[in-house]
Amino acid sequence: MEKVKVRDKYFAVSIPEAEIKRRVAELAAQISKDLQGRKPIFLSVLNGSFVFAADLLRGITTDCEITFIRLASYSGTSSTGEVQQILGLNESLEGRTVVIVEDIIDSGLTMERLLESIRSLHPAEVRIAALLVKPDNLKTELDIPYCCFRIPNDFIVGYGLDYDGEGRNLPDIYTVVAD
Ligand code: IMP
Ligand code: MG
Repeated sequence: MEKVKVRDKYFAVSIPEAEIKRRVAELAAQISKDLQGRKPIFLSVLNGSFVFAADLLRGITTDCEITFIRLASYSGTSSTGEVQQILGLNESLEGRTVVIVEDIIDSGLTMERLLESIRSLHPAEVRIAALLVKPDNLKTELDIPYCCFRIPNDFIVGYGLDYDGEGRNLPDIYTVVAD
């Protein structure tokens, strides 16, 4: 098995590029069918989802828009402690069909808070499209109608996902392996 080294860890291919492409195209076809005529706005969560979003969008056959957001967490003065801010969102979401495009849902806590922030902007509906989900790690109940792959809890890189900033350029998805 061929290994690649990203920083101090070794990784091996777990989902080859061709399989990713095939599955992303299937998901795009499904979303296009479900949201036909609703002019969805895709919200791509940077940095990790940029490769997935680029491939997904090219498979969408209904009129749509895409915008890119970043999440910033800081300790606020509210009783919940951490406050999440959405950066880069200039479009109004009021009355819109929103599709959040995420690279990976692990505990689901990031997505749960993002959903809350998006819902406060009064969209008509919000749906989640995730490249990867680690179902065994989910700590919250999330409805994820569009998911390409369900994977075990191992750490992965490639196809936009990083290990400490590196590995996003790998065309396949890799899983960490022993040295
Ligand atoms: P959650 O709040 O636990 O769902 O965290 C999700 C975020 O953790 C993702 O957006 C990724 O940035 C990061 N993450 C979780 N698992 C992995 C992984 O296996 N590889 C790379 N990043 C990951
Ligand atoms: Mg992410």
